[in-house]
Amino acid sequence: MAPIPKDATLYLRVLENMEEAVIAIDRHGTVVLHNPAAQSCTGLSEKQVLGSNYLNLFQKQEKLLGLIDTALEKNRSLFNHEEMLLARPNGDPLPVRASLSPNFDQQGQPDGVILMLRDLTQVRELQEAIHRAETLSMLGTLAAGLAHEIKNPLGGIRGAAQLLGMELPAESPLKEYTSVMTREVDRVNDLIEELLDLARPPSPRQGEVNISRMLSDIVLLQRESHRPRQVDFQLQLDPSIPAIRADEKLLVRLFLNLIKNAAEAVESGGQVLIRSRIGSRFLYNRPGEKPVPLVLIEVKDNGPGISRDQMENLFTPFYTTKDRGTGLGLTICQKIVSDHGGFLKVESEPGQGTVFTVSLPMRLPIKNQDH
Ligand SMILES: Nc1ncnc2c1ncn2[C@@H]1O[C@H](COP(=O)(O)OP(=O)(O)OP(=O)(O)O)[C@@H](O)[C@H]1O
Ligand SMILES: [Mg+2]
Repeated sequence: MAPIPKDATLYLRVLENMEEAVIAIDRHGTVVLHNPAAQSCTGLSEKQVLGSNYLNLFQKQEKLLGLIDTALEKNRSLFNHEEMLLARPNGDPLPVRASLSPNFDQQGQPDGVILMLRDLTQVRELQEAIHRAETLSMLGTLAAGLAHEIKNPLGGIRGAAQLLGMELPAESPLKEYTSVMTREVDRVNDLIEELLDLARPPSPRQGEVNISRMLSDIVLLQRESHRPRQVDFQLQLDPSIPAIRADEKLLVRLFLNLIKNAAEAVESGGQVLIRSRIGSRFLYNRPGEKPVPLVLIEVKDNGPGISRDQMENLFTPFYTTKDRGTGLGLTICQKIVSDHGGFLKVESEPGQGTVFTVSLPMRLPIKNQDH
């Protein structure tokens, strides 16, 4: 039987479209192939790379060089289970996983190796989100225990302050103090209620939420309250997003906090952009449930951005840089997103601005499901 003719253009197309970076190195150590994914991974163009030696390409990256050396010498496949950081000329190091296979010429003689690199940024983001959610649920349980203990004596203090206020003559200047006491006790009480919210199990009240309408309503009110500072709110909503199954009260709280944070971060006349779309990259897959796409909602501002140090503490309860902030906003946002089976991501460029992206599974309300 005649061999099936190989379609070179098909091979080329596969190489060009795959998400894995493919770099072929010949037996002299010269790079002979560098696909588009490799360009975005290494940050180097094909022109910069083709024809140069891999030793120049991966300077000072001992681990990767060691792997390539071994693969070239022994002509065998190697897979690096550990994640490594790939240094790039203009950009942050990229977390990658590397594998190598020997390359053979048409005579079956070994002719260098093929290096494949997988960008682990997304896997890492997912791991971080899961870690945050786990820490949060531990913290919530702890806080709930503590909060119950505090609420009782607090009630006692409030009652005593009120009694004291009633005992004092109407014209007494001390009356002022008793009202400060009750006001401050109420503030602590509100905080405790918020902490208790963190420990509550996911809400069973899953209704039908029209995300576009909800975002428009929130923006309408925020526009009004930030009018004196002339914050420019922009909405770019995808009209094809259907109503999803979620808890509307919680989602309002989530987006209100993110939008408020953005509006508070920008200078007078600054911009806050809210964008929604349906994610095209993957389906949300949970055992026992039908795979569904993700709805992505971005809240983007052109404020001062968030520094690396600040980023570490962003989701820590009570972390705030505001005079009147509680620092619980983002902790609560994280809890609401996790309770809906979604993910919360933050990207920021100091001096440029910040984007918070909420991804929610596009679960349809029960009545609209086709089964
Ligand atoms: N869009 C943003 N740009 C810059 N910094 C931000 C942004 N969003 C949040 N932050 C930083 O994260 C901190 C924590 O935010 P979080 O919403 O948890 O609390 P808060 O806004 O300070 O208080 P509250 O939510 O109770 O008003 C903020 O104080 C601010 O420093
Ligand atoms: Mg906030």
